[in-house]
Amino acid sequence: MMNWTTRVTKTLGIELPIIQGGLAYLAYAELASAVSNAGGLGQITAMSLESPELLRQQIKKVKELTDRPFGVNFAIGQHGRPFEHMVEAALDEGVGIMSVTGGNPAPFFDLLHGTNVKKLVLVAAKRQAVKAEELGADAVMVVGQEGGGHLGREDIGTIVLVPQVVDSVTIPVIASGGIGDGRGWMAAHALGAEGIEMGTRFIATQECVHASKAYQEAVLHSSETDTTIIKRTIGAPARALKGPWTEKILRLESEDVGYEGLKDYISGEANRRFIHEGDKEQGFGWAGQAAGLIHDIPSVQELFDRMVCEAKGIRKRWGNGGDC
Ligand SMILES: Cc1cc2nc3c(=O)[nH]c(=O)nc-3n(C[C@H](O)[C@H](O)[C@H](O)COP(=O)(O)O)c2cc1C
Repeated sequence: MMNWTTRVTKTLGIELPIIQGGLAYLAYAELASAVSNAGGLGQITAMSLESPELLRQQIKKVKELTDRPFGVNFAIGQHGRPFEHMVEAALDEGVGIMSVTGGNPAPFFDLLHGTNVKKLVLVAAKRQAVKAEELGADAVMVVGQEGGGHLGREDIGTIVLVPQVVDSVTIPVIASGGIGDGRGWMAAHALGAEGIEMGTRFIATQECVHASKAYQEAVLHSSETDTTIIKRTIGAPARALKGPWTEKILRLESEDVGYEGLKDYISGEANRRFIHEGDKEQGFGWAGQAAGLIHDIPSVQELFDRMVCEAKGIRKRWGNGGDC
């Protein structure tokens, strides 16, 4: 039996150090429970839900589908949308792991003060990781510019960012951005990470039941060059699949229309028109460069079995190494 134990697995009580990142409008109970049942950490994405009541329902559903640890993710930077009631609902339902991204985590941490909730922070820069540790994060997830969805402003890739963060904090580091298979997983550990977070890879899984066929097919058929960064001109760069809608967005950005001019194009509705309804002419979908590594739609269990097998092969090839 290969041992995958790291500080991340111990802290979160999971078997494999593989975390499903928050996935707006995609990570509901079905996906979260499948990831947890396969030995990783599944997460519900709270801020895609309209109300605390809907979050409670999703949490209850995950509990029916798995008895393993799972988390709730909060992207708190979304144009001032309040998150306090959502956090309270998650606390009430006894959620033991929460992750946060998109803004200063301090007010979020205040809400969790005096609880035993494990706190993960997703960051995109070294200074944010240091800040997260100072505030009391249990682990920090660090996303490089290959990743899908929102990114750092400095365009630093995962392979450079991760070791720098590892050298800057004492809490465990979880690598994210561009990881889609067992090779990426082991590379992350070679950089000093004690686990990985993936987003794009989970879009193309059987249990990502809210993703339209068109979106999943687009991920499947994309190469590593088929994504682009939008929202850079409003200071919130984020990686999406290239398509007619992102072309329109980039054209508007080149005219410097600002947030007001972009907001209908980058809205949650425009996002859902493609990822739920499959209309790529009228909407967009987030995805990272790892789309180029995705060629099938396995169940999460099949995906993890394959990644474990790849990782075992790599460890075997590496052998014991020896002293330096
Ligand atoms: C479709 C999609 C939606 C995302 N939505 C969120 C979100 O709501 N909250 C969050 O913290 N991160 C979100 N992310 C970022 C992921 O959690 C993760 O950090 C990122 O996808 C990692 O890079 P990868 O796509 O190369 O695996 C999203 C990513 C994607 C691809």
